[in-house]
Amino acid sequence: MSDFYRDWLRESARLDAVVGKGPVVARGSGLKWIETPQDVRTAMLIGEATGFPTQGTALVKAEIPAGWRSGRHSHGEEGIHILAGTGFSVIDGARYDWKPGTTLHIPYGASHQHVNTGSDSAVYLSAVTHDLDFAVKLGRLDQLEEKARDDGELARRHPAERSQFAADGRRISLHLEDAIDERARRLAGHEHQRPGKGAHRHAGIWILMGGSESPSDETNGFRAKAVAITNIFEEAPHSGSHKHAHTEAMLYVLEGRGYSMIDGKRVDWEEGDAVHVPPRMTTHEHFNDSDARTRTLRIEFGIRFFYEALWRGYEKLQDTLEASSR
Ligand SMILES: [Fe+2]
Ligand SMILES: [Fe+2]
Repeated sequence: MSDFYRDWLRESARLDAVVGKGPVVARGSGLKWIETPQDVRTAMLIGEATGFPTQGTALVKAEIPAGWRSGRHSHGEEGIHILAGTGFSVIDGARYDWKPGTTLHIPYGASHQHVNTGSDSAVYLSAVTHDLDFAVKLGRLDQLEEKARDDGELARRHPAERSQFAADGRRISLHLEDAIDERARRLAGHEHQRPGKGAHRHAGIWILMGGSESPSDETNGFRAKAVAITNIFEEAPHSGSHKHAHTEAMLYVLEGRGYSMIDGKRVDWEEGDAVHVPPRMTTHEHFNDSDARTRTLRIEFGIRFFYEALWRGYEKLQDTLEASSR
């Protein structure tokens, strides 16, 4: 019998030493691409396999070449954001069309497959909780079909999209132009009616799945519980966000360059990079010190809110820090 108690003590000390001291930025230019049964080309940005101490969560990039489709598989919940290319996904047997800026919710356990119907490569970001699902022994990753060339076969079987909503009423896909644009709302004078959260701090906010208090608030009709592609934030040239603190979140840089102060340490980032706000309470602030706008995509995981609810005295340290720093 191993000394399980000493093992726990050791693990506790190890995590204390590791979390908050690991990498905080994944470099888009340094990705290690691999081939898998699911994807012709895929690379992990943030996850345990690339040395980030996560809550069992991961952010991955994948590419579907023209004339190809991904494998078909099923697992826990997944959030997807399309960066390039056009095509559609078959999720639980129904077709959902996508293009750059489309956000997709894969329900827990739903089988899914993506096909590139355009003439350029399709690139998507995928946020998953496989390691967490495995840790609680409920995770299952089933490869139902391997990636393959597709000469239009899937499109013949699924000729048209019928709805962006699943049979149970939840939203599965949302194009960027249909997302709630907080800036447009503000300009139209609606802010006093229902102030968008934090709208005054950013040049623009698109609300995708929502989040911040909980990823499960059914914004836009999504019902994401474990993984939420919550927002796109736009920052004007030479501007900064507010200083605040919370536990794990991820930011993917869609456009531009800037830097973040994470627990007092400066990390620069540019288009294609991803920033990890580590699982412990982390004070951070984002800046755009360039002459062009920046756009970042935020990803949140439901497990964070499970622990925040347990955490005695947990507060996001938003308004307090804001009041003292401004
Ligand atoms: Fe998947
Ligand atoms: Fe944050």
